[in-house]
Amino acid sequence: MDTKIIRIEGQGETFSMEEDRALREAGEVLRRGGLVAFPTETVYGLGGNALNPESSRKIYAAKGRPSDNPLIVHIARMEDLARVAGQIPEAAMELARAFWPGPLTMILPKTQEVPYETTGGLDTVAVRMPSHPVARRLISYGGGYVAAPSANLSGRPSPTSARYVKEDMGGRIDVIIDGGDGEIGLESTIVDLTVSPPQVLRPGYVTREMLAGVLGQVSMDQTILRADSGQAPRAPGMKYRHYAPKGELTIVSGQAGRVTAYINAIAAEDEARGHRVGVIATEELLPEYRADVVCSLGSRRDEEEIARRLYGILRRFDDEKVTRIYSECFDDTGLGQAIMNRLLKAAGHRLVVLEDNPK
Ligand code: TXA
Ligand code: MG
Repeated sequence: MDTKIIRIEGQGETFSMEEDRALREAGEVLRRGGLVAFPTETVYGLGGNALNPESSRKIYAAKGRPSDNPLIVHIARMEDLARVAGQIPEAAMELARAFWPGPLTMILPKTQEVPYETTGGLDTVAVRMPSHPVARRLISYGGGYVAAPSANLSGRPSPTSARYVKEDMGGRIDVIIDGGDGEIGLESTIVDLTVSPPQVLRPGYVTREMLAGVLGQVSMDQTILRADSGQAPRAPGMKYRHYAPKGELTIVSGQAGRVTAYINAIAAEDEARGHRVGVIATEELLPEYRADVVCSLGSRRDEEEIARRLYGILRRFDDEKVTRIYSECFDDTGLGQAIMNRLLKAAGHRLVVLEDNPK
């Protein structure tokens, strides 16, 4: 299949006439049952018409994704929610007022209009209203309901730039809209409103604390940061070893000097055994490391920058063919919770805790 690439330079809500025409045509592709990858404020999505079971089947095929892993339905207007969500509790309205459009996905009971192909057989539906202007216009032109997982091949990091979408999806889908790099870089927060109290199934830019600020009590799925909870995660997609780099990733926690010394020692050993070693570092400690490829996530004090850069670095390590990767560890509060959740999953929960560190 020939994949058409559309470049949208327009920032904010203003697009040129050609850009608007191109988005309208991409919307037509969605209406006809085709697939269009598009930018959102989190990561790129691989969109299809959410109300068309055939489109959802195509999405699974293009990603190489198991079809029991439900898709998020993206909408552009509040009045469109009722067509896909059967009951809309007051809590959902409050969250929508506070965080939509934006990086929050809500789980609600589904209506009959949403095919089981889209929800992976579940009676609930995940709904999100993204804030990215390209996404919003495409959704409107595409009929209002766009099912979109992250636009990566199953098992690869979510794409934060159109370049990565082309790598994974070129030749497999109809259109890729290149709208620049994602602002947030990690997937949306998922909160389940069908349980009481509401529960976070996937941490993201909208933190548990921010949700609790609106709703009062909000719980966390216990599998989010722990490998040993003995439970299956409640978001089916969270059980897969997502975000997996090709090299074996280990997170190293402890006091800064000990972490750099440990990583340098083990990197030297690995390299002596023929490994190519990568290090995921913060700007502050970058000069301390000795390894084949050392990448900076930015300053430890800037969690937003760390979130934005993480997936790009994991992909870069794949390109560099590193076989062992070591990463610094982050606090699991605020946005750090989402960062640590993705890192731990990429690491298959391989975490080394160095002594003299109370964490
Ligand atoms: O930021 C995002 O959410 C991006 C952009 C493109 O919007 N999308 C995204 O989609 O991350 P995806 O398919 O990669 O992740 C969707 C997650 C999966 O873990 C899936 O299991 C969960 O949402 N999910 C979807 N519907 C669900 C439901 N009804 N109940 C529980 N979990 C659900
Ligand atoms: Mg994904």
